[in-house]
Order: sequence, then C-alpha cells, then structure tokens
Amino acid sequence: MVYRTYKTDMKKPIKIIAIETSCDETGVAVLKKEGNTVSVLSSALASQIDIHTATGGVVPEIAAREHVVALQTLIPKVIHDSIIDPQTFDAIAVTVGPGLPPALATGVTAARVLAYAWNKPLVPVHHIEGHIYSALLHQENETTYTLPDDSFPALALIVSGGHTQLLLIKNHSDYVIVGQTLDDAAGEAFDKVARLLDLPYPGGPALSRLAEQGNPNAITFPRPMRTSKNLNFSFSGLKTAVLYTWRDIQDKEQQKADVAASFQEAVVDSIVQKTKQALSQYTVRSLLFAGGVAANTRLREKLEDLCHQQKVSLKRAPLALCGDNAIMIGLAGLFALERGRVQSWETVDIQSRFSIDSVA
Ligand code: KG4
Ligand code: ZN
Repeated sequence: MVYRTYKTDMKKPIKIIAIETSCDETGVAVLKKEGNTVSVLSSALASQIDIHTATGGVVPEIAAREHVVALQTLIPKVIHDSIIDPQTFDAIAVTVGPGLPPALATGVTAARVLAYAWNKPLVPVHHIEGHIYSALLHQENETTYTLPDDSFPALALIVSGGHTQLLLIKNHSDYVIVGQTLDDAAGEAFDKVARLLDLPYPGGPALSRLAEQGNPNAITFPRPMRTSKNLNFSFSGLKTAVLYTWRDIQDKEQQKADVAASFQEAVVDSIVQKTKQALSQYTVRSLLFAGGVAANTRLREKLEDLCHQQKVSLKRAPLALCGDNAIMIGLAGLFALERGRVQSWETVDIQSRFSIDSVA
C-alpha cells in the first residue's frame, strides 16, 4: 500500500475522529493524544444485535444498511459531544479491513466524504490492529488511556468472531502473525455451537453463561492441533464433534449445560496450550489479550494462571473494548498517524482481505 508522508508536531496534541463498521457494530469516536496519553472526548456505538437475532447471524447487506442509518446520527452526535471544531481534527481514522465488504464500504465512504469536505488526511486502520491497541494501552479511567513504557516486545492473542491469531509485536505497526486458525475462528465456533444448542445470537455470551452451570469434564471433546509443533488453531473438527455428540444425546435439556461447558473447555484448552507454546518460543514482556472472546471468563482465568507461571504480564482489553468499537480504531489510528500513515480520500479503499503483516 502507498502512504503519503505526513509530519506531525509531536509537541502538539493530535485529534482524530475514528469510524468502525467492519461487521455489525457501528462505532464513532473522537480522541486526542498528548505524549503517550490518549483521551476519548466522545464516542458512540450502535449495535445491530436485535436485527441479526432474527436471522441468527449477520447478513452483510442488512448490516450495511443499518450502518448507513446509524452513521448519519452518530457522526454529528459524536462531533457535537466532543466540543471540537472538526476543522481542527488532524485526520480521520477508519477501519479499511478485514471485514464484510458492504459493511466496510459504508464506514470508508463516510470517512472519505468527511476527508474531502474538511480537506483532511485519512488513516487506514486494520481491524485487528484496533483490537491490539485496546489491550496495548492501559486504561487509567473511563476516558483516559496511556501507553506503558514496557510495551514491546509483546505477544498478542486476538480472539474474535472473525479471527483467532497470535501475533508478535516488536513496535507500533510491526506485526508478525505467528499462529492463526486454519478454519473457523474461536468466536465463530462458539456462535455455531450455540446455534446448535438453540441459544440466542450472539452465541458466545449465551453459551459461556450456560457453561457456568455445566461440568467441563462431562464430555471429552477433541483438542485440535494439540500435537502439532506450529502455533496454528483449528476449531472446525471440534464443532463437528459437538454436532455428532449432540445428535446422539437423548435427554438434551438435561445435558445442554454439560455440552456447553465441555465444548468451552476444549476451546479454552486449545487456545491456552498454543499461547503457552508461543510464550516459550518468543521472549516478550507481556501478553495482550483482546477481541470479543476476551470477554470469556474461563479463558481469562486460564490465561491469568499461564501468565503467572510464565512471569509475563497479562494485559487484557477493558470489557467495554472487547467487542468491536471505534475507540480501539482511534487508539491504533493515533499511533499510526504519528508514524506518518496517511492516505488521501481519493486513494483509500476497503481491503476486505487485508493481512496485518502488510500494514506499514
Ligand atoms: O471482536 P468481536 O466483537 O467481533 C469480531 O471482530 O468478530 O467478537 C465477536 C465474537 C462473537 O463470536 C461472540 O460470540 C464472541 O465474540 N463472544 C464470546 C463472548 N462474548 C463475545 N465468546 C465466548 N465467550 C464470551 N463471553
Ligand atoms: Zn473485532
């Protein structure tokens, strides 16, 4: 990708508006960075959960339509609430990918229009980068985040509905994928198994709530990739194993919680085992843990134990930033802007299959 060079005055605070529309959450936020401290001046999030509950999953065209409607309200509201004159923004940060193309196009189009109207540069942000920054920065209070001095090198575990990745991060914008799922993402497996168990969308939170009442050792589901030397994950075989087990269970209501707990345990074990392997392979100061599935209590507890044993600090995204939001895109966007990552409204476009190692 070609970036235009852009010089920021490091002594001056920088202000941006950030937009996220890669899946089913519309997020807009205004952030200000002074040194290594970032303040969220205003933010808003519109969820489409109610709409997608009816279809049992996200229909990209419906998601896009909803983003368009939400952006029309959220952009003026967030600008108004920030009490900032848009002419003083330094840039507009937007998620360009990966994600659902029709959904991404709404945010990118809105950002391009604003960039043209205000004559400002655009900062293209990779969606996973946003998740990484939600854990990389330390939340001081509800609206203030700081970059700790001991941030790098870090290992990041990003577990969401679309991704399950382990990344080595040596510096800002320097990401190397060291492991990733070969098929379904962990959140996607949670959602699919939840649907099988007749739980409401989105399945992850509902399934993990049900799992609390079940026995995680009731059924031994496979731990895919356990013996492989690489750091990749696979959850599709596990999902199929749950499908066959569930089909053969007579008293489904009685055993539902046990199936949920046993499935969750298999996912958690697989993730923790690969993370342990990665921590023994790479010397890092911290483990960053983010993405929608970072809200899972069982996974968090097991990672806490692992990091304690390995003497690595666990930095988990605040609960409010685990799911998709624009604050995380703004956090990543501010650091990217400072490094000169800008494009003009004429050249920026969606990159639905954007790989994070090609971020500059
Ligand atoms: O990061 P995110 O909001 O969207 C993507 O970028 O994909 O992640 C959403 C995913 C969904 O699959 C949802 O079911 C899952 O995160 N999730 C959970 C939990 N909360 C959300 N999975 C397991 N346990 C949870 N508590
Ligand atoms: Zn996400």
